[in-house]
Amino acid sequence: MKILITGAAGFIGSNLTEALLERGHTVVGLDNLSQGFLLNLKNVQNHRRFRFVEGDIRDEKLVLRLTRGCDVVVHLAAFKIPRYSDAMDTLLINSHGTLSVLKAAAHYGAKVVAASTSDVYGKNPKVPFSEDSDLVIGRPEVKRWSYAISKMFEEQLLFAYHERHGLNVVALRFFGGYGPNQHLTWWGGPQSVFINAAIDDEDIPLHGDGMQTRSFTYISDHVDGIVACIEKSEANNQVFNIGNTREITIKELALLIWGLVRGGEPKLKLTPYETFGKYEDVMRRVPDISKARRLLNFNPKVDLEEGLKTTIRWQIGRRRALGMPTPDLTLRFEDRAE
Ligand SMILES: NC(=O)c1ccc[n+]([C@@H]2O[C@H](COP(=O)([O-])OP(=O)(O)OC[C@H]3O[C@@H](n4cnc5c(N)ncnc54)[C@H](O)[C@@H]3O)[C@@H](O)[C@H]2O)c1
Repeated sequence: MKILITGAAGFIGSNLTEALLERGHTVVGLDNLSQGFLLNLKNVQNHRRFRFVEGDIRDEKLVLRLTRGCDVVVHLAAFKIPRYSDAMDTLLINSHGTLSVLKAAAHYGAKVVAASTSDVYGKNPKVPFSEDSDLVIGRPEVKRWSYAISKMFEEQLLFAYHERHGLNVVALRFFGGYGPNQHLTWWGGPQSVFINAAIDDEDIPLHGDGMQTRSFTYISDHVDGIVACIEKSEANNQVFNIGNTREITIKELALLIWGLVRGGEPKLKLTPYETFGKYEDVMRRVPDISKARRLLNFNPKVDLEEGLKTTIRWQIGRRRALGMPTPDLTLRFEDRAE
């Protein structure tokens, strides 16, 4: 197949590009490099079935041109939860970008596999979340909800395009991805920041009391879920949770990472939620993945400790490649393996 990936230079996009090329597909990658890196695509930059285009998903003419001849568009480009800025980019890039992608896909009849997020379940206290659970979102003064709302709009727009134009669409609610090519800041998730702190022998910042839970999914498992949705017609016009079902508190994650990188007494620092202005956190987040198991044969394979070891090794290498001062460390798990 010929597949257009928006956000191809980002974390999920770059890993997916490699996997699709390995499976024999042809890939066109679009990214404006606002949060992604060409370095993420260095393994594929000269591949004969890959082409990278720097550009914006809101450029409708460009997206239309790139969609021509594609069987599938995987729409990953987005802005995430605004932490240190206002909500405008998240709301407008995600809504206009999705509209631009859907217009082009409808014009050429390409299937759309789009990234939503586990954040759409919001404050719903009933875990695990299945795809038909309620989406419980907080008040508009709390800008973190702008992300979930932009993705709920995206999901609705996908199904409106299906109804009006007969387009095949899939909405994927990802749960906490981590692994090689993750962004090294909060943009990449708490594990990126925790690994950096442990490498630097600095305090690991925990938001609130650190007792909020998450489910962390290794990137190859996310990629397996996306590939199944691209290739299987059973995925068409469905919403899927794509994630690992192991629930862990953020504090446990911090202790695990500190133990893998350094061992000894962990340095943890609680950061009150008030630091982010008006903020509300999601206290528990666990997916029910029975639908993805049944229809896609989706089965997360990588256990958290193993995935974190690979990610920690990768992150040390990436920091060095970026010229970030990085101490020589004998990682605890490498030490033990000897
Ligand atoms: N990583 C996760 O665990 C996770 C969890 C839930 C949902 N998601 C969703 O999955 C998708 C991919 O996430 P990711 O972690 O790879 O994020 P990422 O930020 O690493 O990748 C997104 C890419 O989109 C690009 N981009 C942003 N705005 C753009 C624009 N206007 N035009 C063109 N390119 C633009 C960025 O430069 C970046 O490379 C996103 O839609 C995200 O909301 C990811």
